[in-house]
Amino acid sequence: MHDIVLPKLRFAKNRLSGESIDRLERRIGDLDDIFSDRAAYAALPADRLVYEVESSFPVPDGTEGGLFLGITYIHPGKVGQEYFMTKGHYHKIRNRAEIYICMEGEGMLILMNEEGTHTWAEKMEPGSIHYINGHTAHRTANTGNRILSFGAFWPSDAGHDYETISQHGFSKILVDQGGIPTLVNKPRL
Ligand code: PA5
Ligand code: MN
Repeated sequence: MHDIVLPKLRFAKNRLSGESIDRLERRIGDLDDIFSDRAAYAALPADRLVYEVESSFPVPDGTEGGLFLGITYIHPGKVGQEYFMTKGHYHKIRNRAEIYICMEGEGMLILMNEEGTHTWAEKMEPGSIHYINGHTAHRTANTGNRILSFGAFWPSDAGHDYETISQHGFSKILVDQGGIPTLVNKPRL
């Protein structure tokens, strides 16, 4: 056993490298329940890449007391006036919090209370750090014209509840209004 060992993971040149990295991609075709403008959504190619996540899970999913790490890269783009964004979720164990740190690009962290009645957003820019309280749904949108990347750190027993967002969405959507990212009430379908 050596006293000094090399780090198992490295974040350099805006990519995560090292041992056992999990990589996932979300394309337009995987995101059919999140964007409001159905016609604009249908007009985009299903294989258009919207975001990628590189994660490290040092302990089994569900372990109490551990931590997970993920880097998300959201590509620039819009569906109608709505920016490319992540699916969004609550944590399955609702009281679990999370920290995001923005590395590159510009975006918004969109947050919603547990009751689904109040949605607000925090501006993301390189170096901005975001503490996401438990009981709060979170999704990120790329409001710029290059990749938005950010690191996320969350408890390994938090889990993801995508179902609630898939059914009810957020109470507001983030749209481009004359070049300004603006939260507006969700149009009734
Ligand atoms: O843990 C997180 O909250 C992030 O790593 C997200 O999982 C990531 O940004 C992708 O978003 P979503 O899980 O909502 O698709
Ligand atoms: Mn999360």
